[in-house]
Amino acid sequence: MVKIKIDGVEFEVDEKKNLIDAAKDVGVEIPYFCYHPALSIVGMCRMCLIEIEGVPRLQAACNTPVKEGMGIITKSDRVKEARAGTMEFLLANHPLDCPVCDKAGECKLQDNAFGSGQGHSRFEFHKRNVPQEEIGTNLIINHNRCIVCYRCVRFEEEKVGESNLGLFERGNHSLIGLANNEPIQHNYQGALADICPVGALLNNKTLFKSRVWWYKSHSSVCHGCSTGCNVTTNVRDNKMYRYMVKENYEKGMFFLCDKGRFDLDWMNENRLMTYMENGSPSASTEVIPKIVSSLRGAKGIAVLGGAHESNENISKIKDSISSLGQELGGKTFLFESRVTDAQYKETEQVDFLLTKDQHPNTKGAVDAGATTSEGISGLLSQIQSGKIDLVFVLKEEIPEGLLGKVTVVQLDTNITLSAKNANFAVPIQIFAEQEGSFTNKNGLKQNFEKSMSAPKGLLSSAEFFERLVTSIRTKEEAVLGNR
Ligand code: SF4
Ligand code: SF4
Ligand code: FES
Repeated sequence: MVKIKIDGVEFEVDEKKNLIDAAKDVGVEIPYFCYHPALSIVGMCRMCLIEIEGVPRLQAACNTPVKEGMGIITKSDRVKEARAGTMEFLLANHPLDCPVCDKAGECKLQDNAFGSGQGHSRFEFHKRNVPQEEIGTNLIINHNRCIVCYRCVRFEEEKVGESNLGLFERGNHSLIGLANNEPIQHNYQGALADICPVGALLNNKTLFKSRVWWYKSHSSVCHGCSTGCNVTTNVRDNKMYRYMVKENYEKGMFFLCDKGRFDLDWMNENRLMTYMENGSPSASTEVIPKIVSSLRGAKGIAVLGGAHESNENISKIKDSISSLGQELGGKTFLFESRVTDAQYKETEQVDFLLTKDQHPNTKGAVDAGATTSEGISGLLSQIQSGKIDLVFVLKEEIPEGLLGKVTVVQLDTNITLSAKNANFAVPIQIFAEQEGSFTNKNGLKQNFEKSMSAPKGLLSSAEFFERLVTSIRTKEEAVLGNR
């Protein structure tokens, strides 16, 4: 840490940061557009100009590292005039689109116009008007709103490793466009729209879906793979509308991939809301006693899956199956959370964020001991040989060869093929309807908040196993699923 003076007040700041981040840490906002903490610095927008004591000309704060004893001024008339000039310049061609722009409410141009703009323009000419274009499989560019900050180009080059976008023409004609006329196909089209500080880059999938101020937001963790990116969930009318990145400086998390960001429909649609028996809707009062009877008669029992569940659920399920084993006179339950090849290997990256293991909590499940020495292949052999004849499948596809051979109880959040094909299907809550934690590929345990309310009466996977324990001890009562 070093001491610097900001507007005459002395602060201790991190010497590894630039002036924008160091000032932000102590509560002083320096406005900016082109700066992004995870991208190279280009100093293109000139929004972050400040005075440095002893330096005659204004300097870009994004491009100035912190130095012991330096003094900076962020609120002088010179600084205010420079910021107002930059805003007037950027707004010269910018349309008055806020009422129809998806970025409104979280747009840096709005914020900086409000904080540093003048409220009027001297620009008397026609504004430039370039038609909107589709530039990706899920990406649109509205050229008129672009402020040429170059964030999108840098992000693609520096993080994705592709150079689809480039800056063409000069001055008033400057245009962000496709270098090769091929639509962008990569897994980071959502991130491009996210890092665009204005509403120039937009995703088809979220276009005109909602105004941002209608969302209720919660801190969460992406469910899509073992990286466990930090997200802010945006929920409206108890539906999951958006995942937005929750920037985490300490952990270096600044982006989301499209696979995780846009895989949300399953939380809102096609949910499994009732118990099922052989593909037909049933009720808990019918199904639970039959599962209990199967448990009593089973030679061997296995639970497959669980790496989509929170650490807290996994530990409760382990406790419940141990109690069930005791209640059933010492029967052993084998609990194997690793059901895909990727869960057995060291983390394999698909790209700079996404991993091959598409479970958010394999590491947590393995650490909790939800594993067997024989692994999934050993368990499947035991099933084939008849040693195991009752299998609980926890939000996974039923492995090949099980149906018709053993009794399958599928716990699922959605009406999947597995739920329809299983002997019994049990509806469970999704992770966003609970609070808990996932442990990512690096062993980082990250908490998530409850973002949505679960349908009334719907149990979590852990509560279902607790329910089995109670049912085996007492007479079954109707609780849910009997609508
Ligand atoms: S499209 Fe957005 S991110 Fe790209 S240069 Fe324009 S304003 Fe910046
Ligand atoms: S990399 Fe994994 S955790 Fe991150 S957004 Fe993509 S799917 Fe989600
Ligand atoms: S943020 Fe410093 S010049 Fe753009």
